[in-house]
Amino acid sequence: MASSFDPVGVFDSGVGGLSVWKEIVKILPNESVIYYADSKNCPYGSKTKDEVIALSENIVDFFLHQNCKLIVVACNTATAAAIDYLRDNYPIHFVGMEPAVKPAALSTKTDNIGILATQGTFQGRLFRETSRKWADGKKMMIQAGEGLVEIVEQGKAESPEAEALLEKYIIPMLDKDVDQIVLGCTHYPFLLPLIKKIIGNRATVIDPSPAVAKRTFDLLALQKILNESNKNPYYKFYSNGPAPAMKKILAGIISSDFEIVQADK
Ligand code: DGL
Repeated sequence: MASSFDPVGVFDSGVGGLSVWKEIVKILPNESVIYYADSKNCPYGSKTKDEVIALSENIVDFFLHQNCKLIVVACNTATAAAIDYLRDNYPIHFVGMEPAVKPAALSTKTDNIGILATQGTFQGRLFRETSRKWADGKKMMIQAGEGLVEIVEQGKAESPEAEALLEKYIIPMLDKDVDQIVLGCTHYPFLLPLIKKIIGNRATVIDPSPAVAKRTFDLLALQKILNESNKNPYYKFYSNGPAPAMKKILAGIISSDFEIVQADK
């Protein structure tokens, strides 16, 4: 039986899920949160569904050993490949990443929506179903952001290399009159300064992370396992491989001291 004092587990293939972690701790300041970066196996985007399921299972086992009360799959690609399987096979609640097609479809004035995500996310059931449900009658420009995850992992989110790739992916969307661009990968919010520079005021960028944090809050409340006490929430960060950018990214989003623990699996 989960206790309200147990931690929330958040994972991603690497540092991307920290963009979700940041939103979670903002609206759930009493919660202890354990973050796991599967840096050794990053990126997930080019892996098969079965590979991503196996990797996600490893991490879920790790979280269960730490008594996590809820797990946030802070990775669109892992959500697409594995969340159905995880929900069917583990006795714990999961929150996944929603491809934010709905808010984009509701806000567009040009009826043209752009989605930047990994190949794995575009291949998933969630993306297919959400698009069918919400984007009927809209034109969707989907673009795999190849290379972007690696750039963020290497700490080069503001490099000329990042800018060149983003221009290649985003300018064709703007040329097609896209006025909403969905960030369908949790690594991409770290590229926002460059994305905004390229877009200017020609389109709105949609990051689903705040909505995912809100869903985490609601699910904890619904299960009656919200931590109501603000005594000593702790944050732990694990990575199982080299994560050159993790320290710098964390330093930019956390005000307390932190340590990145090397995970052995
Ligand atoms: N942050 C992951 C996502 O949201 C990155 C995927 C990858 O590792 O390729 O999809």
